[in-house]
Amino acid sequence: METLFSGIQPSGIPTLGNYVGALKQFNEIQDDYDCFFCIVDQHAITVPQDRLKLRKQIRQLAAIYLAAGIDPEKSTLFIQSEVPAHAQAGWMLTTIASIGELERMTQFKDKSLKQTDGVPAGLLTYPPLMAADIVIYNTNIVPVGDDQKQHMELTRNLVDRFNSRYNDVLVKPEIRVPKVGGRVMSLQDPTKKMSKSDDNQKNFISLLDEPNRAAKKIKSAVTDSDGIIKFDRENKPGISNLLSIYANLTEETTDTLEEKYKDSNYGEFKTDLAEIVKEFLTDFQEKYNNFYNSDELDEILDNGRDKAQKASFKTLKKMEKAMGLGRKR
Ligand code: AMP
Ligand code: TRP
Repeated sequence: METLFSGIQPSGIPTLGNYVGALKQFNEIQDDYDCFFCIVDQHAITVPQDRLKLRKQIRQLAAIYLAAGIDPEKSTLFIQSEVPAHAQAGWMLTTIASIGELERMTQFKDKSLKQTDGVPAGLLTYPPLMAADIVIYNTNIVPVGDDQKQHMELTRNLVDRFNSRYNDVLVKPEIRVPKVGGRVMSLQDPTKKMSKSDDNQKNFISLLDEPNRAAKKIKSAVTDSDGIIKFDRENKPGISNLLSIYANLTEETTDTLEEKYKDSNYGEFKTDLAEIVKEFLTDFQEKYNNFYNSDELDEILDNGRDKAQKASFKTLKKMEKAMGLGRKR
């Protein structure tokens, strides 16, 4: 079976967009791959974080993965900082990355502009750590959104460089972009992506939003003025986004929804969708709360850590040996 690795930063609460574009799809592919789902807290600290808030968000993210259907019997769910091989391999890959190629990363440029207190060096060396996350598990497939494609290309380059400079020890991972239709847009500006870091709370629905509040956000989502319920991303981005959310949370397709709502107005459609989102969140949060408050969550993370440590050890040792670190054994 091939290996799949994915990481989500515990910085903020995932949105409905993260659910549709990532978490829901992870749930669906668990049977097809040997999956590693990682809470990448060491990536989160490349920008300043509040200690207590970070701790809480790590646990929240673990409970969110589980509420979304990640099954610890099938997949390995764990916290990056609890498996030292990530930082160890990350350091080795940092030594073969060049400052120039790291400075060309758009995420580095964007994030460093936002820093007021000096740019942390970790922001620059973030991609070799991400590459390490992936290679220590001999990962074949990495599902990521568009914004991570550049980091993935760099990862593939670092793998080639390591293999040709030292020894052929690393597996070169393939990028898997989520299925189309998985892109959820902002509710007030449907031409841009729904993002958890948006300043305007009305633009996104967090998976932990109070369900009635989320329903209100759907009802006040921006649409157009022609009143026809039709999927057309280009000319009707607002209603198309809502149709896509509807389809993703139910068994419907946008085609069957167009048919179902052909005689309805936007108000009726939004009322139905608001109810669906409310029910989805109520159900999701019930599962979430059970996990968040349980000892089982700690057992799952302990197990995940042990499994991840075991799985990453061999490749880490091969990397060290290839580079000539330590003693000959
Ligand atoms: P991020 O929140 O940017 O760290 O994204 C984590 C993952 O969630 C990405 O790899 C994307 O696949 C997915 N994702 C984020 N935002 C959206 C969105 N608005 N629509 C669909 N998928 C998304
Ligand atoms: N850089 C990714 C993001 O910001 C998170 C991440 C870290 C990741 N390591 C990874 C994603 C390895 C996939 C594989 O979204």
